[in-house]
Amino acid sequence: MWNRDLTEALAAILNPEAAEALRDLGKIADDRGINAFVVGGVVRDALMKRPCEDLDIVVEDDALDFAAAAARELKGRVKKHRRFGTAILVLGRGVKVDIATSRSESYARPGALPDVAPDPIDLDLRRRDFTLNAMAARINADGFGELLDPAGGREDLETGVLRVLHERSFEDDPTRVLRCVRFAARFSFEVDPLTEKLLQDAVDRNLVSTVSGERIMNEIRLILSEDEVWAPLERLDSLGALASIHPEWHLPEKAPNLFSELMTIMKDPVGSIRSATLWHTNFLAAVSAIDISDAGALLDRLRSGATLRSLVNELARFETRTRERLESEGALSRSSIYDALVALSPETLAVILASGGQIATQRIALYLSELESVRPILNGSDLIVLGLQEGSDLGRVLTDLRRARLDGFVTSKEDELEFVRRTIRNLDVKNKR
Ligand code: CTP
Repeated sequence: MWNRDLTEALAAILNPEAAEALRDLGKIADDRGINAFVVGGVVRDALMKRPCEDLDIVVEDDALDFAAAAARELKGRVKKHRRFGTAILVLGRGVKVDIATSRSESYARPGALPDVAPDPIDLDLRRRDFTLNAMAARINADGFGELLDPAGGREDLETGVLRVLHERSFEDDPTRVLRCVRFAARFSFEVDPLTEKLLQDAVDRNLVSTVSGERIMNEIRLILSEDEVWAPLERLDSLGALASIHPEWHLPEKAPNLFSELMTIMKDPVGSIRSATLWHTNFLAAVSAIDISDAGALLDRLRSGATLRSLVNELARFETRTRERLESEGALSRSSIYDALVALSPETLAVILASGGQIATQRIALYLSELESVRPILNGSDLIVLGLQEGSDLGRVLTDLRRARLDGFVTSKEDELEFVRRTIRNLDVKNKR
């Protein structure tokens, strides 16, 4: 028989502050005479010995009252979501605890948010997505760490199987289609055959289309933040789930190669790519084969903000205006490479580096490792001292000076001074004409 006491398993994956918070919250539950549990991903991760940061707590009581009492006692801050009856408790030293009332859920129609009713922990666990996420451990002092596993999650973890708890699971909440693919890929688990059939049925019935754009986008973001994004994306594509988000959404032909290159690039990023947001970069790659107007419609469907939109537009502009020049075999000066790439975001640079032919890749690599950080020694104030006035001439001279430095026409401060004086003389002549 397995050990049903998770005390040690929890201590092993939580940082000391989070482990202490669990004990403290258990004592507060004791004082109020209620049952309290840590649930979901934390319990799963404890059994899998995977580190975990955020705590999900369920109490058989009013979560908002419990959170307020805990905040008072542990000197934390509490953020209440009255609509859902849940609270986030933020304690010192970075511990964040989601607190919910133990509840059952019913769904008026697929894709709708659930109607909830308080119920004992057993029913709370049975409303959840997959057996491996439907476990809890008691945190009251009496029986701390005791495992509750009404759906056989532990056995599924041992055998590496992802399984829904009941046949209506994907219908109740079609975001579980995306979650299913994400967890299966993250843990390299088999999807149990009945779950697989229900998954495909859910996609074929187009249930994902009933979910709000914000909720789909949230799941997409989570998938694109995983260590391995190709496997879940490919699975969503072959299921037909990408197409049920937007009919024209399909992955690029060379996607396996593109994502494997991108993963290598993002693991050890060079130059300005270091500041790229990983999931934005992956999103750009995932939509890079779609026509720009379809990509716009997809972003509308996902209720995307301005940042992703501008990245998608930027990549499309690069493909139509610049890609060919960067791939061409003809000579391209260092300043021309710089000019072609300087306005691009880190995310776009990462994607074009991952998708470039040999010549373009070499040029982008040169830009990132060297060209983008080239600066003239003289700055704007120096140019004003030399006689230029603030305004467009000054900006242009600085740009020309940088180009001259990139192409090796100036290499020292004296060269730069000479370059600027000569440019001013030429400007004066031009202005007098
Ligand atoms: N849950 C669910 N159905 C959903 C979303 C969540 O049943 N559509 C339940 C699961 O029990 C899950 C828990 O709520 O374990 C917490 O959800 P979330 O934080 O999204 O997932 P985690 O399991 O913690 O996964 P991750 O490791 O990705 O954070």
